Amino acid sequence: MSEFKQFNLSSILTQLGEERTKRILSSFYCPLNKDVEEFCRSKAIEFSKRGFAQTYLIFWQEGIEKEFIGYYTIAMRHFTVCKKHLSNKMFSRVKQHGTYDNSTGEYIISAPLIAQLSKNFADGNDTLISGSEILQMAIERIRKIQQEIGGKFLYLECEEKEKLLTFYEKNNFVSFGKRKLDKDETNLEGACLIQLLQYQN
Ligand SMILES: CC(C)(COP(=O)(O)OP(=O)(O)OC[C@H]1O[C@@H](n2cnc3c(N)ncnc32)[C@H](O)[C@@H]1OP(=O)(O)O)[C@@H](O)C(=O)NCCC(=O)NCCS
Repeated sequence: MSEFKQFNLSSILTQLGEERTKRILSSFYCPLNKDVEEFCRSKAIEFSKRGFAQTYLIFWQEGIEKEFIGYYTIAMRHFTVCKKHLSNKMFSRVKQHGTYDNSTGEYIISAPLIAQLSKNFADGNDTLISGSEILQMAIERIRKIQQEIGGKFLYLECEEKEKLLTFYEKNNFVSFGKRKLDKDETNLEGACLIQLLQYQN
């Protein structure tokens, strides 16, 4: 019987050492999004060591066979929200959890960011898991963290592409704004990223 297993990159580093871990990460391939590919191959270890973000690798396992099928990365982020693009219900939740900024008239919220999320398209491994399954793993991990420390919101950003927005909206995220790309965000398309929120009931 096959099953999914997820491991924190820091634990993999401790167990296997840097060379073997890098070999696993370099087997990640994502032709649809070079940013998620480059992050996995070249940045995830450094971000993990420096505590900027934690990455979880997902494997499909059946007997002794094991395939690297995807990953997600979580970090903390603060962002601002204004009423314009939110329903009344969502905005009242933002008001309860956020801090009002007098100078901008916006609310500042701190929340876990799903910073990266992708299937591994190498060797057809993307057929072994769906995007929603990876997203649910990330959400479930964040839910457990928030049960310990509080917090109700999840935050993410994605390129302005209809298929990505449909994917996140299908998974109960709502878009509320746009953020201009930073100068170093060169692997992404467009000038802005769409910002999305989810509230955990
Ligand atoms: C986004 C993702 C997790 C969704 O997985 P899924 O729900 O199982 O759906 P699929 O992989 O079948 O993708 C659905 C459609 O979106 C398209 N798509 C996925 N990611 C895309 C991207 N970054 N840019 C453009 N189109 C994309 C797929 O080509 C597919 O198109 P089709 O319906 O014409 O075949 C997965 O496609 C993925 O890993 N994409 C690459 C990484 C990525 O872009 N992550 C999001 C970062 S914000």
